[in-house]
Amino acid sequence: MSASEYKRQAAEFAAEMVEDGMVVGLGTGSTAAFVVEALGRRHKEGLRFVAIPTSLATEKQALGVGIPLTTFGEHARVNLTIDGADEIQRGTLNLIKGLGGALLREKIVAASSDRLVIVADETKLVDHLGMKTLLPVEVTSFGWESTARQIERLGAQASPRRNREGAFFVSDGGNLILDCRFPVISDAGRLEQDIRSIVGVVESGLFVGMGTDAIVAGGEGIAHLTVGA
Ligand code: A5P
Repeated sequence: MSASEYKRQAAEFAAEMVEDGMVVGLGTGSTAAFVVEALGRRHKEGLRFVAIPTSLATEKQALGVGIPLTTFGEHARVNLTIDGADEIQRGTLNLIKGLGGALLREKIVAASSDRLVIVADETKLVDHLGMKTLLPVEVTSFGWESTARQIERLGAQASPRRNREGAFFVSDGGNLILDCRFPVISDAGRLEQDIRSIVGVVESGLFVGMGTDAIVAGGEGIAHLTVGA
């Protein structure tokens, strides 16, 4: 079975966790898109919920499938957010997110959520963060070169993300993303704090202590992981 099919399986499983009356955070990326599709279907079948999207792309998709949207002005807390990730650390469920460029909104929604459920295919599970992917860090465009140099002092190589045309990738928030290659990350909490303390950094793609559940689909079926399990 393909990675895409595993993503769909994980998404369908997680979409069943949404209950009547919930405020739901909608993630971004190819796995989260399957969740939005499934929730659109459940909404048509009569499930009542409202949602906060984590990107303009997800907002567009959610509106397209008829999911009613809300804002933090109307709801201070989100009951359940379902989102993808680029790496999930076994045991801690600490994450690297943001290869899709939506890490800032994703983190704001995650920080306001009672439960953050990550959906993924099995290739995303790692023993240590940084084993497979770069760490995205969102920075202001003003002075990004200086910000990148300071991040490099923490032991990384930092390069601004570019789009297909070679221009800088600009996030929904109007910022740049630095893709940072760190050696394997042994203390994610410490690194997150160190990166965050650099002036010019808006947010990093390290999500530490935020994930409560991970639904991971692969050759051996669907696993529902929780912190510590
Ligand atoms: C978006 O900014 C990311 O955090 C995505 O959630 C992450 O890149 C996972 O994407 P896929 O589900 O497409 O692999």
